[in-house]
Formats: sequence, structure tokens, C-alpha cells
Amino acid sequence: MTHPTSSDQARPTEWWRTAVIYQIYPRSFADASGDGIGDLAGITARLDSLAALGVDAIWLSPFYTSPQKDAGYDVADFTDVDPLFGTLADFDRMLERAHDLGLRVIVDIVPNHTSDAHAWFQAARASAPGSPERARYIVRDGRGPEGELPPNNWESVFGGPAWTRLDTTDGSPGQWYLHLFDSSQPDLDWTNEEVRAEFDRILRFWLDRGVDGFRVDVAHGLAKHPDLPDFVISEDIDSMGAAQMGHPAWAQQGVHEIWRRWRSVVDEYDGDRILTAEAWVEPLSEMAAWVRPDEMHQAFNFPYLMTPWDADAVRTVIDDSLAAFASVGAPSTWVLSNHDVIRHPSRLALTVPSPQGHGIGPDSPGLPDPAVAQMRGRAATLLMLALPGSAYLFQGEELGLPEVLDIPADRREDPTFHRTGGERYGRDGCRVPLPWEADAPAFGFSPSGESWLPQPGWWGEYARDRQEGDRESSLELYRAALAARREHGLASASLSWETTDGDVLIARVGDVMVVCNLSTSPVDLPAGEVIAASERLDDSLPPNAAAWLLTT
Ligand code: NOJ
Repeated sequence: MTHPTSSDQARPTEWWRTAVIYQIYPRSFADASGDGIGDLAGITARLDSLAALGVDAIWLSPFYTSPQKDAGYDVADFTDVDPLFGTLADFDRMLERAHDLGLRVIVDIVPNHTSDAHAWFQAARASAPGSPERARYIVRDGRGPEGELPPNNWESVFGGPAWTRLDTTDGSPGQWYLHLFDSSQPDLDWTNEEVRAEFDRILRFWLDRGVDGFRVDVAHGLAKHPDLPDFVISEDIDSMGAAQMGHPAWAQQGVHEIWRRWRSVVDEYDGDRILTAEAWVEPLSEMAAWVRPDEMHQAFNFPYLMTPWDADAVRTVIDDSLAAFASVGAPSTWVLSNHDVIRHPSRLALTVPSPQGHGIGPDSPGLPDPAVAQMRGRAATLLMLALPGSAYLFQGEELGLPEVLDIPADRREDPTFHRTGGERYGRDGCRVPLPWEADAPAFGFSPSGESWLPQPGWWGEYARDRQEGDRESSLELYRAALAARREHGLASASLSWETTDGDVLIARVGDVMVVCNLSTSPVDLPAGEVIAASERLDDSLPPNAAAWLLTT
């Protein structure tokens, strides 16, 4: 079966159909100020390393004014920079430097909720039930004789109830507000035109400054079922919502008119600006609705990310992705890691799966064998970078970083850990600040040696300066693969399978043959010139390895 690609109809300016987009998590990328938290000046100073890596664009997680209860996804002012990260002038300098280097810049936007420190929520707290101030949020009377029970049984993604009670102006308990995430993140009411108009303004603020697009947080969550009915939660529910199809908080049809409105705002601007949906929606055929021609440009392919190390499952998700996205004329995206998931080398080698968002720590069952993790991580990346469409990388994956398990409880910051009393480790293990130089303070992350999450002692082995020029390093594998991907036009080529069963994936993508060995034995490679390989090869490809070949 051959999949034509969506870029068959691409206009040359549609850079996003084939782009590799690198996620910067500002807290953990590079710290110029020395306070142990990464910042915009730190990013600016290190951007040349990303240009040298060969990516097309960067996406920045939030750097806006925020109490940082959810690492910046709790925004108190959507059009200013938190002093932790710098100033608007620092942002402008970063943007200019990125553009000078040929890198596009996408910023995060968080429309589902604000911080409870946002002026709107402060006003809602201080106002009466039924007031216009409360109408910007989802505030309801409780159930029970005294309104002492939450309005419904929804749970927060981070654990615990999704409702918190407000005080009345005389201090007695009053109405309840909805927060699908932490209690410091009240959900906005998107049926309210004032909310919609405010986000048009926010989009234009950043578009006017010159950003190339937005990564839209919780793009499957803005519209809730109007009746806010109870939901019967099944045992195997997924905490990030991917398996919550049918839940009245997620993937409601009302989101689509919001995205059409946003698309028309973005289309007012020249320069091919984009919207990318963070939408935990299954199946892929349903997710495709988010990227219809008048909605968003891309959606993260979470079904691909969640696929275990199993050849049939990987082949199926690749086929389903190409078919689903092509059915609406959108490129497929591919992603293996981000700031919410266990870093993919570790995740793909777990022997006991870990539910999304729960994270792993020293006591988790089925912890990965480090050698297997490293091999699978490299092989999975090489497979991903051969696939037609656009790919997302998460900072540090080019260094081959595994998940950090050993973070003391008193240093963990993810609200998931605290809201579940430590039952879920949460997401800190993928957020540990990057190692740049093996022998520098904080491994080059911060000149003061500070680091908001502790870096393990062995972090230096993964430092970028240790890997530069070492052909067998992860960094050089990523560089070589990104260069070959570009040279052979893989992102805009068609994919066809050479075999459609067995534990070895063999596909032709343009003029390149891609082989990925998910079996437990070495396999012979077809004759041809190897242009990239995740392991050192003789004539065979070991288990947990991948290669690209030019065959005759
Ligand atoms: C998704 C973001 O990626 C995650 O980090 C955040 O906690 C939630 N949305 C809430 O904004």
C-alpha cells in the first residue's frame, strides 16, 4: 500500500507540512541569569546550536506572567513575560535572533484556563453569583442541601476533584469553579463572547510581534457539554484524556467553531503562520477534524507517541495516521517526547506500561534496562524522522537523555505528584535542566550552578560538548538523520511497505529504504548503501535498531 502525501498538493510556502519543530521548555533549556531557572536570554544565547542541529522551527512552552503552579501553564497575564524568564524586550531579541538563523518561532497559548492569579479570576472571586465577572469562568452552585457537594463528579487530570469551592463575600462557602487541571487553573467559559474576543486580542498581540504560530494547549477541552453531566469513569481511563472519549469535558464538537475563528485571525497575517493542536483525541480519524482546511494546520499525533514497541502496532498507527490526516489535506505529524510524557527511550523500554501522566520513579514496576532504552530510543527516532510529514522533537532528546527517576520528593514540582500524595510521580523526570558542558557548573545550564530540579551526577555523560563530533553519539545521529531527511526529501515523499507483517518494519520512503528491527534477533539488511544507522552495523541489523539505505 502506498500513501500519497499531503504535500503532493503543497504550496512551496507551506513550510509546516515538512518541518521539524523543536520544543524548548524554557525553565530547563538554558539559564542566563543564574537563578537556576532557564530564561529567554539563555535561549537566545544557545539558538545557534539548534540551527546547527538542522531543525526548522522552535516551539516555546509558556514564558508568560505566572505563579508557576503548573510550570507556567497557569497564566496570569497572557501578553507579558514573567520576570523569571525576562522581559518583552528579551522576547523580541530572541525572536529576531531565531529569525536571523532561519528558525521560525511558535509560542504556546493556553486558552482553556487562566491562573487563579489572573485579574479576571480575582474579580470573579470578589463578585456575586450570576455576575459578569463569574460568567467568564465555569462557576456553578453545588449539589446537596447546602450546596456542599461539587456540581458533578469530574476529576482533575492531575488527580482529585475538578471543582473547588469559592467563598462568599462574607467568608462562608459559596459556589464552585471548574478546573480540569490544578485548582490554581480555573476553566474559562468559552460560550462567553468576552472570552472569545479576549483571545482574538491575545493572538493578534503575538502575531503583531512576529511569531510564526501557536501551539494550542488543551485544544480538545474548551467546549464542555452544556449540562455538565456526571461521567462514569472506567478503571482504565487515561489521565490526559486520550481514552476519555465520550467524557462531557473533552472533544466536544463546540471546539471547532473556536478553531475556525482562530484560523481566520491567523490568516489575516502573511508569512504562513500556523496553529498546532494539543488534542488528546482518539481515534485518529476523529483527531483529523481538528486539522480540516479551515481549522488548525497540525495536531500532535499522540496515538503515535503512545504506541508501544510492537511492530504491528507501529505499522498500524503509521498507516492510520497517514490516511487520517491525508483525508483532510493535512500533513501527519510525528512525536515521541514532550514535557508531559516519559522520555521516549525510557518509555519504550518499560516492561510494565505506565499510564499517561503518571510518570515513573525509583519504585515503579517494570523499569527500563538502560541499554535497551538507549537502543530503542535511537531506533524509534530514526524511524520517525523518515516518515512523511512534520516531526516534533523535545529538548534533550537529541542528547539521548533518559527519564530521571531519582528526584527527591521535596524537590518535585509537578502538581500531579502533590495532588496524588506522591502516588503518581508525574512529569518532573523529563523536565530536568539540560546538560550542555560536562565540566561546567550545572553542566552548563546555569553559570551559578543552580538548577530548579536537581541534575543527576551522571548527567555530564550526556552533555552536548561530549557528543559534538563523536559519530556514534546521539547528537550526531540526530544531525545526520535531519540532514539526510532534508537531502532525500523524505518529509514530502510517499511511504510504501515492503512487508506488511513480521517484527521487522521495512518501508520505502521516496528513494530511501527504512528498516527497523523490533524483533529479538538480528536481521539481514538488504543490499545497498547505509546512509544512517542507529547502531554500528556489520551486515545485519541488531534488535532494537534502525537503518536507512539507498538500494538499487
Ligand atoms: C497540557 C500541557 O502540555 C501540560 O503541561 C499542562 O499541565 C496542561 N496542558 C494544563 O495546561
